Amino acid sequence: IKLEGKGHAPVNIALSKYWGKRDTILNLPQNGSVSISLPGLGTDTTLRPLASDSSQQVTAQDRISLNGQQLDAHQPFAHRLSQFLDLFRTAEVPFFEVITHNTVPTAAGLASSASGYAALVLALDDLFNWQLPATQLSLLARLGSGSASRSLFPGFAIWHAGQSEQGLDSFAEALDAPWPDFCVGLVEIDVAEKPVGSTAGMQQTTAACALYSAWPAQAERDKAVIINAIQQQDFSQLGATAEHNALSMHATMIASWPPLLYWQAESVIAMQKVWALRQQGVEVYFTMDAGPNLKLLFLAAQKKAVSAAFSGLKVIEPFAKPDTQAAS
Ligand code: DP6
Repeated sequence: IKLEGKGHAPVNIALSKYWGKRDTILNLPQNGSVSISLPGLGTDTTLRPLASDSSQQVTAQDRISLNGQQLDAHQPFAHRLSQFLDLFRTAEVPFFEVITHNTVPTAAGLASSASGYAALVLALDDLFNWQLPATQLSLLARLGSGSASRSLFPGFAIWHAGQSEQGLDSFAEALDAPWPDFCVGLVEIDVAEKPVGSTAGMQQTTAACALYSAWPAQAERDKAVIINAIQQQDFSQLGATAEHNALSMHATMIASWPPLLYWQAESVIAMQKVWALRQQGVEVYFTMDAGPNLKLLFLAAQKKAVSAAFSGLKVIEPFAKPDTQAAS
């Protein structure tokens, strides 16, 4: 064991979504999903062993800090993290010090739990010197947050739903198909903490939405179409399928009772702007997660037109070389 372990992982945006679990403890999904990781946005985590040795005046719990702030152990974020760490405690390391920094706002629909648990698992791998392959780390990250299974990989990733009850076949792997002019634009409507997290949101939808029964099969079909579109570099097919997939997922949330609507008025205005741009021949699509923000999908040739329509748009080019990654 080392003195400390470090991990970094990017956030990822699902192009075909994970929504609904067949096992809520193991985070086994009802359907597979496919994502794109966003370099530059993510989580850095450092882990250090905390001995329970009283001479070191260490209390019998983890010490967790997020973005420079020490968290109370009862705080939901810290509680969930410590529960996850329960899986990895040893006689030598009964408790952990966790120092984690996000380069994205926490719980703003930008999947910080995804980069967070992926970075934590990489830090564990480093601390304990496991040297596990990324697909194995993906399995472990999934236990912290389903979407984290996809954040172990740069570029596109596929998370296989799997069939086994133990979930050993439910992990993500890289879809190695670089697409140099692929762009993701972040439209920030509201970065405040969302009132209903995705874990609770999924529970509510699967328990109380008749429309949900149609979702897993559609999501699997969409996933296959998007994988094919990535391999063929067929942007129209990718964009249309991703947008339809996101709207279908949100339809299941809206059709739950009580209803679950993550959109704000500005979200709808932004959607209409995307549709108006397409009418004008600007090929841009959107996707949305469990929050009010939109993520735009377009190719570099449309970057000017899309940026002109959305002031303050943050554009990420996942496959651009680091030195040409414009902070625009
Ligand atoms: C809408 O991975 O955050 O972003 O497994 O309960 O932690 P838990 O849920 P989480 O859900 C992500 C839902 C989504 C779609 C997606 O990323 O695929």
